[in-house]
Amino acid sequence: MAFRSLIRSSLTFSRTLLKANVNLEKNCERIVSTTIPALNKKQVEVTFLKANGEKIKVKANVGDSLLDVVVNNSVDLDGFGACEGTLTCSTCHLIFSQSDFDQLPDKPTDEELDMLDLAYELTDTSRLGCQIILTETMDGLQVKVPATINDARG
Ligand code: FES
Repeated sequence: MAFRSLIRSSLTFSRTLLKANVNLEKNCERIVSTTIPALNKKQVEVTFLKANGEKIKVKANVGDSLLDVVVNNSVDLDGFGACEGTLTCSTCHLIFSQSDFDQLPDKPTDEELDMLDLAYELTDTSRLGCQIILTETMDGLQVKVPATINDARG
């Protein structure tokens, strides 16, 4: 009799474990299914054209700034982004083609224009990389990196 009772308890315990395992798997699926879309950021290709003729082509996440792109891809641009995007240095100065410049979604703010005035090699199509946020339509973007930079902080 005691043996039967032991077997019954053992079966009940096994079923409980099985149920817990199924619930755990369901919860894990839920976690995975909500996490994957966040990791699947769209990417675009960006090329940095250095003054020495070197071309650096990288993959970049839509929604990142061009400063993020340089930092995240360890693009070797000496002194670039010294103020980390706080609009106080102008070292992230980049030069766009006229057509790319015309299609940028946002116009420069007064603060960006003030900082651009302090940049070396300023052109009509200059912008600060920390203020340019990538969109899907910017795939294949090419930007020139000036030969000299000016850290406006002194
Ligand atoms: S990183 Fe300093 S102004 Fe853009």
